[in-house]
Amino acid sequence: MNDHLALHEPEAISAIWADTKACGFEMASDSLTCSLLRTLAASKPSGRFLELGSGTGLSTAWILDGIDADSRFTTVDNDATLLAILKQHLGDDPRLTVVCADVDEWILSQKLQPVYDFIFADTWPGKYRLLEETFSLLKSSGFYVIDDMQYRADWPEGHGEKAANLVKILEQRSDFRITKISWASGMILAVKK
Ligand SMILES: C[S@@+](CC[C@H](N)C(=O)[O-])C[C@H]1O[C@@H](n2cnc3c(N)ncnc32)[C@H](O)[C@@H]1O
Repeated sequence: MNDHLALHEPEAISAIWADTKACGFEMASDSLTCSLLRTLAASKPSGRFLELGSGTGLSTAWILDGIDADSRFTTVDNDATLLAILKQHLGDDPRLTVVCADVDEWILSQKLQPVYDFIFADTWPGKYRLLEETFSLLKSSGFYVIDDMQYRADWPEGHGEKAANLVKILEQRSDFRITKISWASGMILAVKK
């Protein structure tokens, strides 16, 4: 088995990658991570999906490729330049709502009721802060997914401790069933009981 073969990436990906490289964005999610996101997304028909940290829309495009016509997907980022790339390639999709906002403020502006079936938390808020508030947005049986958990030598000082602490928090939650996957950038899949 070769993880990288036959990924069948969504149509928009090569153009989004070209723009992503051209604008110098270096925090893009890798294709393996995105492929798993798409597979999980396909398990929630008529679902409500949330992405915190859209970037240029790479993971957004893969998740969109997994969801069905009745699903709705909100993605939030505070960088209008990155979101302009996302909107150029994905903005016509009627299932997608693109929000340009600070994710801390956006989370705190929500009713904090369980409305989402799937949350991909790919920025600081929703992952390293406001975790409880983010969990409150997730329905029972919903997926909470994070990546970039595998140690990297270029992590800033102190980030390793933060990541280890987050792993410990998730390991100890009795209201989630989690699996750590030391694969791609290092992922954790958590399902709310
Ligand atoms: C890891 S990148 C997201 C990558 C994206 N999901 C992808 O697949 O390529 C993190 C993103 O979070 C955004 N960001 C960082 N802090 C933020 C904040 N406080 N509010 C909103 N977005 C934030 C950055 O602009 C960046 O696009």
